[in-house]
Amino acid sequence: MKSKQRQQENLSGDKHVAAQGFGRIATERQPLFDPEEDSDVAYKFFEDNGFVVLGACLTNNEIAHLNEFCNRTQSQHPARWGLTEKRKPHHRNQGLIFSQPLLDYPELDKYTQHPRSFPMVSRILGGEDRVRFSEFNLREIPTNAGMDAMNFHHDAVSRDRLIRKPYMPCDWLCAIHYLTDVAPGTPSFCVVPKSNRYDTLRAAFDGIGANYQEVPIYGEAGTCILYDTALFHTRFDGDGKQSRRTWHQYYARGGWLRSSLPTTDRYMRAPSPVLTDWNLFPERLALHPDPQRRLFFSHWNTAQCEWVASGFDKKVRESMPRGEQ
Ligand SMILES: [Fe+2]
Repeated sequence: MKSKQRQQENLSGDKHVAAQGFGRIATERQPLFDPEEDSDVAYKFFEDNGFVVLGACLTNNEIAHLNEFCNRTQSQHPARWGLTEKRKPHHRNQGLIFSQPLLDYPELDKYTQHPRSFPMVSRILGGEDRVRFSEFNLREIPTNAGMDAMNFHHDAVSRDRLIRKPYMPCDWLCAIHYLTDVAPGTPSFCVVPKSNRYDTLRAAFDGIGANYQEVPIYGEAGTCILYDTALFHTRFDGDGKQSRRTWHQYYARGGWLRSSLPTTDRYMRAPSPVLTDWNLFPERLALHPDPQRRLFFSHWNTAQCEWVASGFDKKVRESMPRGEQ
């Protein structure tokens, strides 16, 4: 309630509008698509709105495995989740995060191109050979957390997106899978449909007009939300009584792509830049024997380049932020 009240207060004043939203919260649920049977309409929905919700994207066994993985690693390696007396700055108020589980757990490799969501991911990013891996993490909002309103924001954006033609494929895509059921009262992911085409939330509010909405997304465990990282989004608070677990994976667009700008029709879009300067890929993935898998894991940042040059040295990894073992 606290954040809803805060957002509604914003209707009367402009002071915090850009940060906290306009309080025009959708009352109807968003459509849920089957990524195989509804592939064409689901893609069209994404193209029009900057996000799409896909149903039943994990099997019961996979949901059980990922939750067991969270339980196991929280008890065996609490520091990897920030569960130490002195919590890490990026964990405060926003719940728990296990930033780079792929580094030490090959049992998660099979999820990086999940058969239910990956075909839609590929279509959105311009084809299977254009999809690049960016980041994989697991998060938990425990009970009595997630009550500090997160601001509406977008993630990475490219400068050309507001003027290039065509807009699609987008530059980066995030897939959030709910690992626990998310219903009213649970902290929920929330988006502003169509806001990826605007520079600020205020511009989206003015530009989208009467159709502007802030949409909390509810769904059972296994629901997958794909969103363009340029879309304004936040986490809506829950009632503090229900926890939530999610798996977040970011993808980037690879390869050069012919495009056009108002000033020239000879414009080429470069592969999307890396999202972080710290995210690392383990040797088994970065130097995978299969060239297609290698290409998928080919967007290295400079920290990764240094780690590869060191022969994936343990000490070099440990010297890096979030590189602890
Ligand atoms: Fe975000």
